[in-house]
Amino acid sequence: MTGELSPIDKAKFVAAKRAADYVEDGMRVGLGTGSTAAWLVRCLGEMVRDEGLRIKGVPTSTRTAQLAKEVGIQVVSLDEARWLDVTIDGADEFDSELNLIKGGGGALLQEKIVATASDQMVVIADIGKQVETLGAFPLPIEVIPFGWQTTQALVEETLISMDVLGRTSTLRMNGDTPFVTDEGNHILDLHLNRIGNARQLALVLNQMPGVVENGLFIDICDAVVIGYGDGKVEVRDINEGTVEESRLDFVETDNLFTDLAD
Ligand code: 5RP
Repeated sequence: MTGELSPIDKAKFVAAKRAADYVEDGMRVGLGTGSTAAWLVRCLGEMVRDEGLRIKGVPTSTRTAQLAKEVGIQVVSLDEARWLDVTIDGADEFDSELNLIKGGGGALLQEKIVATASDQMVVIADIGKQVETLGAFPLPIEVIPFGWQTTQALVEETLISMDVLGRTSTLRMNGDTPFVTDEGNHILDLHLNRIGNARQLALVLNQMPGVVENGLFIDICDAVVIGYGDGKVEVRDINEGTVEESRLDFVETDNLFTDLAD
């Protein structure tokens, strides 16, 4: 089955598999959204089933909630859990300070709330997500549907004075209609090309009426687990200042490698 996986999918899988080591019995765990996070949910589901791991999972989207339930993880709301031991999630870009762009899957709002409510946030990503400077990936911002075009104009106007290389934006679509987030909002993707001062931009965007949240995760991520297509895994911990390398073999288990919809 793994022979059918692309090198990128193998990289995502080994990152997720290694990150599952962060999860211990009895923990409350934030479950990210996206294809890499889906591997993590699968790995945790296997640990629940085969090793008797007992965890409470707080999903960051309805998609992840559904998958977590399917694989046997006990799902609770953030209000029930209140505070989490660890959140493990994917990212669209990460830099050397482990600042991130997230929201490619449209779940940035819940992802940021859940990650911020955690003792530790661990990002899982293939090496292709590493960048010197954030911004090649369009920055998602979640906006209220009411007056979204006015908000868009205001955002583009504000970008003139920011340290970025582009200032166009597009409304994310789902076929012929605007994409709607789990919170009932829309997403504007900002085509900035290069973000010179991500911290400043994140603060400015969140001050604008109509903007609910932006996809810049600044000083939130504690460690990144980077997967490579050949099974190599690198763990960089920003607090400890450590880098560890290991290698994971692909274990072909039907449960993990079949029916992965995301
Ligand atoms: C969803 C996200 C995802 O974590 C991000 O888009 C990465 O996704 P993938 O693991 O599929 O590459 O932020 O809102």
